[in-house]
Amino acid sequence: MKTTGGSDAAKRNAGESAAEAVEDGTVVGLGTGSTAAHAIRAIGRKVDAGLDVRGVPTSFQSRQLARDVGIPLADLDSVAAIDLAIDGADQFAGPHLVKGGGAAHAREKVVDAAANRFVVVADPSKAAERLTHPVPVEVLPAARTAVAGDVRVLGGDPDLREAEGKDGPVVTDNGNLVLDCAFGEIRSPGELADDLSTIPGVVEHGLFVGMADEIHVGTDDGVDVERL
Ligand code: 5RP
Repeated sequence: MKTTGGSDAAKRNAGESAAEAVEDGTVVGLGTGSTAAHAIRAIGRKVDAGLDVRGVPTSFQSRQLARDVGIPLADLDSVAAIDLAIDGADQFAGPHLVKGGGAAHAREKVVDAAANRFVVVADPSKAAERLTHPVPVEVLPAARTAVAGDVRVLGGDPDLREAEGKDGPVVTDNGNLVLDCAFGEIRSPGELADDLSTIPGVVEHGLFVGMADEIHVGTDDGVDVERL
């Protein structure tokens, strides 16, 4: 599994804190990444103890882990609503996020946006005053060169994400490619998000603008909860 940023203890404290918010009889969106994985394991322990919950995974990774720890699963189109989604972030500035370090941001955005409450789990290395992290952009394979050109027109520097443990590029769970697009400091996340969304061939980008309701920032000793 890909890991980023701070200590495993900090990620575990964030994930376990968010899992405490999962209530009996609810549907929960299961995010992707090393921090969200701690939340999924903690929810699995609650299921073992009798909690009635259904999980909607955001990736192959979160589906597999949820199955391993015994969380009953549902598809997004088979549930009436998602009560709570718990997901990680590569960077956060207030309620704005950059996501997609695990190339799962397309499904993550669908699930996180559908949730009545979206809780972000992170370690302190993800906090920023302004977003500066390169924005992952999932693209149709045939459109990658054209999209890269359009990203340059917007002032970005696109870089095709290469796989580790496989020759060639990362291929997403949806069969697409990822361009990591550096824009320096992102002064207007909403504007950039809109511009990226209008590029033909873009499946989804990793700017989650104003989406977070709560951020649980784990430290080695505990957790700070910020309500937005
Ligand atoms: C996957 C994501 C992850 O949530 C993000 O990369 C954070 O991962 P981690 O908790 O391992 O640092 O957006 O697409």
